[in-house]
Amino acid sequence: MDQGPLILAIETSCDETSAAVVSGRTIHSNIVSSQVDLHRQWGGIVPEAAARAHVESILPVIDEALTAAKVTLDDIGAVAVTNRPGLVGALSVGVSAAKAIAYSRNLSLLGIHHLEGHLASVLGSGDAVRLPHVALVVSGGHTECIEVRSWGDYRMISHTIDDAAGEAFDKGARLLGLGYPGGPAIEIAACAGDARRYSLPKGLSGDSVDFSFSGLKTALMRLVEREGSALVVADAAASLQQTVVKVLVERSVRVVDSLGHGALTLVGGVAANSLLRAELQAECDRRGIQFATPPLTLCTDNAAMIGLAAAPRLARGQSDPFSLDVHPTSELASG
Ligand code: KG4
Ligand code: ZN
Repeated sequence: MDQGPLILAIETSCDETSAAVVSGRTIHSNIVSSQVDLHRQWGGIVPEAAARAHVESILPVIDEALTAAKVTLDDIGAVAVTNRPGLVGALSVGVSAAKAIAYSRNLSLLGIHHLEGHLASVLGSGDAVRLPHVALVVSGGHTECIEVRSWGDYRMISHTIDDAAGEAFDKGARLLGLGYPGGPAIEIAACAGDARRYSLPKGLSGDSVDFSFSGLKTALMRLVEREGSALVVADAAASLQQTVVKVLVERSVRVVDSLGHGALTLVGGVAANSLLRAELQAECDRRGIQFATPPLTLCTDNAAMIGLAAAPRLARGQSDPFSLDVHPTSELASG
């Protein structure tokens, strides 16, 4: 594939300030400044604090991305930025920076949907990625199976009817007193646990392809109340992790079977979970499904995935006007 121009990509939709330099499928740099330590004191993300921290970090992070890629702004051909969905104040910081750079240098500007970034993150895996395929997108705000017919042409096949998988981990960790962020905390605690001690519900039954995690959260809450100080936290964490993983594997493979594409990708912050990666890989191997997932650094929020999503759009001649706006909520649309 033609490398195309160097893209400066920016991502500030939530609690990571990130900038990257990408061309085609090549990632030249990907700098992520996490606000996890800042938000830990409140046990979750405080939007005002997130926006302020983005303001402080955005220029140093962009500088670092350019330096790491051994380029200057003179080498950049286009600027891509997450403009939807996300925290409005946080998104505005990235979009303002992107507009200023693009306007002052007369560069193409592309506003990218955060979910399209997660979908395209698999292009950085180095693995062959077949089209069409099914993408299991699992993050703090999303749990969806999306049919990727081509880059830019997407169809939502199934989704969670309540909490996202990442939310199940985050809320579960809070209930178990495991701290923030919940996903990695659950994974670490679960290493020493026995998933068979406590049984938790898998949510929607039958042949559904949708997801539901709120019943799991309620069951965990009851378990914590019932067991009190006798609760073995590691075992509860292991059980929670295994239940979420089982549901994700079962439903996503069912979607692949129903569409007959024979290819599945796993993307989003929860894709960093080792058990999920291993179980999905094993199930796909058993069924002859081609499986691809990005390295851990491309699973959680980062700007390289925004650049990877922008590259095919740029190659098709797309760009956005400098009036580009931010949107707190937004469906992933084709186009
Ligand atoms: O994609 P992401 O960085 O941000 C959103 O777009 O939401 O995903 C963050 C989510 C959080 O819920 C976090 O707990 C979860 O991904 N996560 C994990 C792991 N690492 C991050 N969940 C399970 N296991 C992990 N290792
Ligand atoms: Zn994300």
